[in-house]
Amino acid sequence: MARILLTGGAGFIGSHTAVVLLERGYDVVLLDDFSNAARDVPARLQRITGVGVPLIEADIRDEAAMAAALAAFPVDAVIHFAAKKAVAESEADPLLYYDSNIVGTVRLLAAMRRAGVGRIVFSSSATVYGEPDECPIDEQAALRVTNVYGRTKLVMEGMITDLVRTRTLKAAAVLRYFNPVGAHPSGLIGEDPTGVPANLMPYLCQVAEGKRPYLNVFGDDYPTHDGSGVRDFIHVMDLAEAHEAALRRVLGTDGDFTVNLGTGTGYSVLDMIGAFEGATGVKVPYKIAPRRPGDVAACYADPARAATLLGWRATRGIEDMCRDAWRWQSKIALTNHGP
Ligand SMILES: NC(=O)c1ccc[n+]([C@@H]2O[C@H](COP(=O)([O-])OP(=O)(O)OC[C@H]3O[C@@H](n4cnc5c(N)ncnc54)[C@H](O)[C@@H]3O)[C@@H](O)[C@H]2O)c1
Repeated sequence: MARILLTGGAGFIGSHTAVVLLERGYDVVLLDDFSNAARDVPARLQRITGVGVPLIEADIRDEAAMAAALAAFPVDAVIHFAAKKAVAESEADPLLYYDSNIVGTVRLLAAMRRAGVGRIVFSSSATVYGEPDECPIDEQAALRVTNVYGRTKLVMEGMITDLVRTRTLKAAAVLRYFNPVGAHPSGLIGEDPTGVPANLMPYLCQVAEGKRPYLNVFGDDYPTHDGSGVRDFIHVMDLAEAHEAALRRVLGTDGDFTVNLGTGTGYSVLDMIGAFEGATGVKVPYKIAPRRPGDVAACYADPARAATLLGWRATRGIEDMCRDAWRWQSKIALTNHGP
């Protein structure tokens, strides 16, 4: 079975993808600098899967460390999750994002070339579409980034597809994620951002837990069914399974492809609050706040290309997303704050 290196493998999406790969018999090597991940994630992965996972603690910007990692663990492909991902932080410190995301990816790709690793799956984002002309958004839609984080994703997409075109890489998958939420059903891994959560679901869970007094709903005057912003929330386990499908294609077929990973259904922030309360029985106080600059009214995927190319479709619903996120959050609350 193939051996795969997961950069950022201790993070939210990386750890869930590791579970799916391990359960499907792949050899997995994790690489992470733990700038946004808990150190016990590898142990938790072992509890879930029964398999011990090698871990390399390194920064992707350290090309010598990347070369050493690939020499110690020859791999068939890399799934490249490692990145900084907070839009507001990227606007406050663009150079940090250019360095961490773009320079980091250049160093990783250089180390891969030296080691003769020619296959990569790359974490991109629906943020590259900016304010779409219409929804659902397919992969041919105009790319018009509205923030520094999105710019770094677009640059990295271009670098990777250039490297396939110039045959520096053999194969690449560019995966444009919509809004990943939820957690593994064991409640042993999930999203645990350091500091104030920038994304809806972890913030909502922290309000439900009583750690924060209320949720801000940014804007109730968008042209959507209830005025709040509409997004394509996708369960992280569905997303993890999509990575395995993309990986199979990248291992077996030369060339590159770009696919949206979403459910194709848009839910508003207020829908999400209602679904969370329904699925968990926990009330979520919220207040309407002004729109945030750069937020779009609605953003949801046309997932048809992923279905055709990869034979993958999301299967989990909004209740699963809420229930699993809450199970995880309740366990963190116990671990961090005592029973
Ligand atoms: N979560 C989302 O909403 C979302 C949406 C679209 C795209 N993405 C992209 O998916 C990828 C994974 O996102 P996530 O939600 O799992 O984020 P995450 O922060 O949980 O995971 C990223 C991991 O990379 C590590 N990391 C960061 N910089 C590093 C560096 N320089 N060297 C080594 N490790 C480093 C972090 O410690 C973390 O474990 C990112 O590239 C992100 O931009 C995420």
